[in-house]
Amino acid sequence: MSYLKEFKKITTHSLLQMKQQNERISMLTCYDYSMALLLDSAGVDCLLVGDSASNVMAGHETTLPITLDQMIYHAQCVVRGTNRALVIVDLPFGSYQSNSEIALSSAIRIMKETGAHAIKLEGGLEVVDSIKKIVGAGIPIMGHLGLTPQSIYQFGSYGVRAKEADEANKLLAEAQLLQEAGCFGLVLEKIPAELAKQVSEQLSIPTIGIGAGNACDGQVLVMHDMLGINTEFKPRFLRRYLNLGELIPQAVKAYVADVKSQDFPNAGESY
Ligand code: KIV
Repeated sequence: MSYLKEFKKITTHSLLQMKQQNERISMLTCYDYSMALLLDSAGVDCLLVGDSASNVMAGHETTLPITLDQMIYHAQCVVRGTNRALVIVDLPFGSYQSNSEIALSSAIRIMKETGAHAIKLEGGLEVVDSIKKIVGAGIPIMGHLGLTPQSIYQFGSYGVRAKEADEANKLLAEAQLLQEAGCFGLVLEKIPAELAKQVSEQLSIPTIGIGAGNACDGQVLVMHDMLGINTEFKPRFLRRYLNLGELIPQAVKAYVADVKSQDFPNAGESY
C-alpha cells in the first residue's frame, strides 16, 4: 500500500494518518533546489532542511556554527524545488535556547521568509515552553530527542544515547511531554531500538528514527550519507544507496582527461 498517489501534498495530518495506518514515513535531509527537485519527484514524504547543513554543506565539525540566516537561505532553496513533500526546517543552535520569545520569533522568521511547512528543534523539558508558544502561533513543530547534536559538547561523543535506565526513563517522559506540548512528530536519534519501539508505541504522534531501529513510524537519513558523498562517515545505522564519493571523482577525472586531450568539446558540442 502506498500513499504516493493518495496524498497530493504531504501535511502533518498525512503523517499522523500514515502512523495510524502503519505506513512508514520516509524523510531525507535536503539543502538546495536541485536536490529538492530530485528527492521530491522520487516520492520522499518529508524533506528536512537539517542543521547538518553546517557539516555537509559548510564543512564545519559540528552543527553549532550555522546561523538562522543561513538556515533560511537553505530552506528557501529547498521550498522552491518541492511540490509534494512536507518541508521541515531545523531551528539552529542559538536561535531558540535563550527563551520562548526568541524561539517564537526565530520560528516565525523561518515560516515567513521561506514558505516551509514546519520547524524542528532539539531538546526535552527545557524547550517545552518554547514549543507551546510556537504551536500557539499556529506553527507545526517537530521534537528531537536522544542524540541531539547541538549538545555535543555536553555529551562529549556521538555515541548511542539512553542505554542506561535513568536516561531511557527520562527520554520516555520527555517524549510524552513534547507530545502534550503540541509536537506533531518526534525525531529519535541514536538510541536503542527497543527504547525507540517503546516511545513509538507510547505516543500517538509519529516518531522518525535515525539509528533508532525499525519500530519507529518513519526513518530519516542525511542525504549526503545515503548517497555516499561523504565516504568517511560509516556508522552502523547508515545504509548507502549510492557511492557518489567514487562516481563523482571518476566522472571528473574523465572530464579533466577529455579537456587535457582536447577531446572535449568535439565538433558536435560546438557552435
Ligand atoms: O540536521 C539533521 O540532519 C538532523 C537529522 C539527523 C535528524 O537533525
